[in-house]
Amino acid sequence: MSEPQDPQSLVHVQIIVGSTRETRNADLVTPWVTHRAAHRDSLAIEVLDLRDWSLPLFAEHRGTVGNPADPTYSDPIVKQWNQKIAAGDAYLFITPEYTHSIPGVLKNAIDNVFASFAFRNKPAAFIGYSSGIGAGTRAVEHLAMIAIEAELVPLRNTVLLPKVQQAFVNGSPVDPDAEVALDILLDDLIWWGTVLKRARAAGEVPPAMARRLAAAQRQR
Ligand SMILES: Cc1cc2nc3c(=O)[nH]c(=O)nc-3n(C[C@H](O)[C@H](O)[C@H](O)COP(=O)(O)O)c2cc1C
Repeated sequence: MSEPQDPQSLVHVQIIVGSTRETRNADLVTPWVTHRAAHRDSLAIEVLDLRDWSLPLFAEHRGTVGNPADPTYSDPIVKQWNQKIAAGDAYLFITPEYTHSIPGVLKNAIDNVFASFAFRNKPAAFIGYSSGIGAGTRAVEHLAMIAIEAELVPLRNTVLLPKVQQAFVNGSPVDPDAEVALDILLDDLIWWGTVLKRARAAGEVPPAMARRLAAAQRQR
């Protein structure tokens, strides 16, 4: 029997499901990913299904944020969303490809993480899928660029699932390479999640905006 893990040492991974439409193929991918991730002793898994988060279309500005140390936001759910994301140590995004990018609902959820720096200095891994042979590649490439701006640490190794409607039988992928790719992705997420959790606890440099403000004040 394995030793129980110290909860403090666990990497809290939030699996963010990026499609919300009825009949979504995300429901083929998410149970497999969640099941495999749950088997990793060093991870604490939480699924954030954007269907459960009716976030408004992004609407924040200085007036809605209020006190940056304890932002109000335009709607209580935006505050809850920022607090939820802040509780994660690492993120696993599951995204289809819509119009060569990610769904608007996923981009909106990322934009709504505003003023809290909740994603900052935490790793992000990506699983892409599509109904064609593109396999979500372009969505994942876009998402990696978006992740940089959110100050996430985007990881190289991905899982890409072409022809997603035919990619699973009884909940398992038809292509054995998908299992290998997911294992590699989870290994990387655990390594980076552990390293960056430790590094954040040891202290972080302030966000660039704060350092720019400090530099401007020194120049006065
Ligand atoms: C609005 C929209 C745009 C799409 N654009 C692309 C695309 O650019 N490339 C691609 O390979 N598949 C594209 N697809 C197909 C989706 O990748 C496929 O339907 C996938 O299953 C969508 O995920 P979901 O069912 O979980 O929402 C698109 C689908 C939709 C609904």
